[in-house]
Amino acid sequence: MSALTITLNDGNKIPWLGFGTGTALFGKDAENAVQAAIANGFVHLDGAQAYNNEESLGAGIVAAGKARSSLFVTTKLDKVPQGQTVRDTLVTSLKKLQLDYVDLFLIHSPKNHPAGTLSSVWKEVEALQKEGLAKSIGVSNFRVQDLEEILPNASVIPAVNQIEYHPYVFKADQPAIDLLKKHNILPTSYGGLGPIVRFKGGPLDSVLPSIAKRVSKAAGKPVTEGQVLQLWLKAKGIPAITTTSKEERIKEYLATETLPALTADEVKTIDETGSKVHHRAFAKFWDD
Ligand SMILES: NC(=O)c1ccc[n+]([C@@H]2O[C@H](COP(=O)([O-])OP(=O)(O)OC[C@H]3O[C@@H](n4cnc5c(N)ncnc54)[C@H](OP(=O)(O)O)[C@@H]3O)[C@@H](O)[C@H]2O)c1
Repeated sequence: MSALTITLNDGNKIPWLGFGTGTALFGKDAENAVQAAIANGFVHLDGAQAYNNEESLGAGIVAAGKARSSLFVTTKLDKVPQGQTVRDTLVTSLKKLQLDYVDLFLIHSPKNHPAGTLSSVWKEVEALQKEGLAKSIGVSNFRVQDLEEILPNASVIPAVNQIEYHPYVFKADQPAIDLLKKHNILPTSYGGLGPIVRFKGGPLDSVLPSIAKRVSKAAGKPVTEGQVLQLWLKAKGIPAITTTSKEERIKEYLATETLPALTADEVKTIDETGSKVHHRAFAKFWDD
């Protein structure tokens, strides 16, 4: 893997930038998008059983023709159907993906499982790592109380908690982030472009353009507000799981990896400005 990576608590490496097949591609054929993402340089693909398109993620991987070892593929556990085990669902996913293993298997949401069962679901996930069907294992959308439910009985500490993370939600996420840090669990971000895609009209609108201009001058090429948001994630050491339907945007996202870093002052300005409002697009139960 030549991309920028972060080392997980189990020693495996996760590429900082990931291409997702949910949101814009949810329930849709993702083959062409995935093939284009890989052809342009993405190595980290983020799928899920719930996205109902794992076959097309697999087809895109095959069509791209890259060595399996050069890719990092995630899928996520949906509700476990009656009469099935967690293992059954991953075996089905692997068939659809045309893979022997995933690099990362996540419990997609604590809300997908009956109250009081998270710990036993996590035990099943741990067994899949032991068997080699998933190299790394983790969770997604886990609040403090969800983490506290599984950690006391866990033999394996989750490697990752994939959560919504951007400047309009990071303050509300902080208690979870603090707990993750304590256990060396890496937060990864989805919805990172929220301030320019879903919550336009907020206080960052007047801050992002001037930072983009400064970075652009330093880089000697145009820099977008989206790239500034991704650089903010990078400054915090948080992987960015994004997506797009457009080839130009694939190139834009990948170019972020080699842009000059934000200054500490710029990060602070985005933190302070972002924390003036609160917006969450997904997993709204976090705010209940
Ligand atoms: N674990 C979970 O519960 C969970 C929840 C949500 C998402 N995810 C994962 O994270 C991935 C990414 O999620 P996300 O879509 O929220 O990521 P995001 O990075 O916040 O947003 C990506 C979207 O932004 C649009 N975009 C980018 N730059 C733009 C601009 N300058 N102006 C207007 N639109 C722009 C893209 O549309 P274009 O097609 O127009 O480029 C794309 O649809 C998903 O595919 C999924 O894999 C996981």
